[in-house]
Amino acid sequence: MRKPVIIAGMAFIAIQFMSACAGKTPDQEKKAEPAPLSQEEKVKNGELLVAKLDCEICHSPKKMGPQGPEVIPEQRFGGHQANAPLPPTDEKMLKSGWVLFAPDFTSFIGPWGQSYSANISSDSTGIGMWTEDQFKKVIREGKFMGLDNTRPILPPMPWAAYKHLTDDEISAVFAFLKSTAPVHNVVPDAKIAAPPKM
Ligand code: HEC
Repeated sequence: MRKPVIIAGMAFIAIQFMSACAGKTPDQEKKAEPAPLSQEEKVKNGELLVAKLDCEICHSPKKMGPQGPEVIPEQRFGGHQANAPLPPTDEKMLKSGWVLFAPDFTSFIGPWGQSYSANISSDSTGIGMWTEDQFKKVIREGKFMGLDNTRPILPPMPWAAYKHLTDDEISAVFAFLKSTAPVHNVVPDAKIAAPPKM
């Protein structure tokens, strides 16, 4: 008695499957693109990328805690804080070829001179007034402020690694940074070392 029921059931499923496939040519199926992300989803993706790529290790000021440097929440993404005291530098060590990192990783000294992590918060002293094209130029071409005819971005900003991000990923990172709390802070100008004599 059960067999005919099972066969009828299977036939019903087969018909359902065939009618689901019918009416759609392979071409139409290919064209069905995923719905575009909402702004909220894009910002969320950007936040995840910024965490994975650890932009904060350099761009957020930190204070020393029991487990080591801890991000100061009110200064998140604010870059090297203007007038923040830095320890004295040891010329002898620099001459011997060492590179120096400030204790909170927001300032760096090496053969390029002294660089300071930029303010990448949403404030006007950060990237608040930037266009997405400017941001893309920093990440893809390593141009300071993302403008043509500016100096190259200094180490240790790892833009050459980030340039492999897709357009959508760069756009998501930018959307997230634009959504961060504004941190008003004018980062000092980099001190650029004279190029070594050839
Ligand atoms: C290892 C440290 C380090 C990491 C990690 C890092 N940055 Fe940077 N970044 C810097 C430094 C230092 C500068 C300033 C370089 C200069 O003055 O030329 C900078 C500059 C920038 C600038 C240019 C600002 C300007 O005014 O031109 C942007 C934008 C930026 N970083 C975004 C990011 C993003 C987004 C991430 C993560 C995906 C990131 N950075 C990760 C160190 C870092």
